[in-house]
Amino acid sequence: MKGIILAGGNGTRLQPLTFAGSKQLAPVYDKPMIYYPLSVLMLAGVRDILIVTRPNDLPAFQTLLSDGRQLGLNIDYATQDEPRGIADAFLVGADHIRGEQCALILGDNLFHGANLPTLLRRSALKMGGCVLFGQEVADPERYGVAEIDPRGELVSIEEKPRHPRSNLAIPGIYFFDAQVSDIARDLEPSARGELEITDVLRVYLKMGTAELVWLGRGVTWLDTGTHESLLEAGAFVRDTQRRQGIRLGCIEEIAMHMGYIEPDDCRALGAGMGNSPYGEYVMERARLCSAGVLPPLPSEGL
Ligand code: G1P
Repeated sequence: MKGIILAGGNGTRLQPLTFAGSKQLAPVYDKPMIYYPLSVLMLAGVRDILIVTRPNDLPAFQTLLSDGRQLGLNIDYATQDEPRGIADAFLVGADHIRGEQCALILGDNLFHGANLPTLLRRSALKMGGCVLFGQEVADPERYGVAEIDPRGELVSIEEKPRHPRSNLAIPGIYFFDAQVSDIARDLEPSARGELEITDVLRVYLKMGTAELVWLGRGVTWLDTGTHESLLEAGAFVRDTQRRQGIRLGCIEEIAMHMGYIEPDDCRALGAGMGNSPYGEYVMERARLCSAGVLPPLPSEGL
C-alpha cells in the first residue's frame, strides 16, 4: 500500500500565514501540522509515502523530513504548480502509485483515537475498490457529505452541499485501489475549477465498490482550514498532551513503536532536537522502550 499526503494548495483562508510558507507546516501546538497526517499513515502501516507540495514549499518539507530514512520510511516528493484539487494528487502521484493500492490523507486533517490504526488497517485490507470514512459533524455543509439509506448502504456523495442530506461528513483520509489514477484522469473540473475527491468517490459508488466506514465516537477528527479551527486543533493537542503526559503525532515515537527504527535511533533523533521538551520526550520514550516498559507494536506493513 502506497501513501500520499496532499500538502499543496494556497491556504487562502489562512492568509497571510500562508503567503511565505505552507499551511501544512504551520504549527499545531508543538509540531508542524504534517506530523499528524504522517503519523496516521505510519500507524496504518504505510511506509512508502509521497508528499505533494507547492514548488516553493518543497525545500522546507525536504529539510523537515528528508527521504524519511531516519524514520524507517521512504518519502518522495512531487509538486503541484497550481492547486488543481485533491484528485490531482493521483495524477501528480501516478508514478508513485503505479499499479498499487493507495492511501490518501489531506495534510491539514488531524485524527486522534486509540482504535484508529486498527480501523484503518482493517478497512484497507478488505477493500474492494475504495474506502471512505464518515463522521457526524455539526456543520456538514463545509465538507463532502455521505448519505446512507435505512440499511446503512451508501447512496449519495456530495461536495459541500448547501442543503446536506445527512450530517455524515467525509474526512480527508481515503483508500483506493490501483484504478484511481485512471479515474482521476477522466474527471472534469468542478464549478470551483478543481478535480474533486468526491467526484472520484462517486465513480466508485457508481461501480458499486465504494465502502463507507463510520469513524466512531472514539475518534477525534479535526480540520485546520480556518484561523479558529487551527487554534482549536492546537488547544486540543495541548490539553490532551498536558492531561496524559504523552505527545500526539510524535513521528519518532511512532516509528519506534511500529518497529521501523530501534530505540537507539529514536534516542538519537530526540538528542538531535537540543533541549526542547519535544526532544526530551522522544529520548524518554526511547529509554522506556529499551527498558521494556513500552513494548513495540507489531509492524505488519500494508
Ligand atoms: C476537502 C474535500 C471534502 C472533505 C474535506 C475534509 O475539502 O473536498 O470532501 O470533506 O476536505 O477536510 P476542502 O476543505 O479542502 O475544501
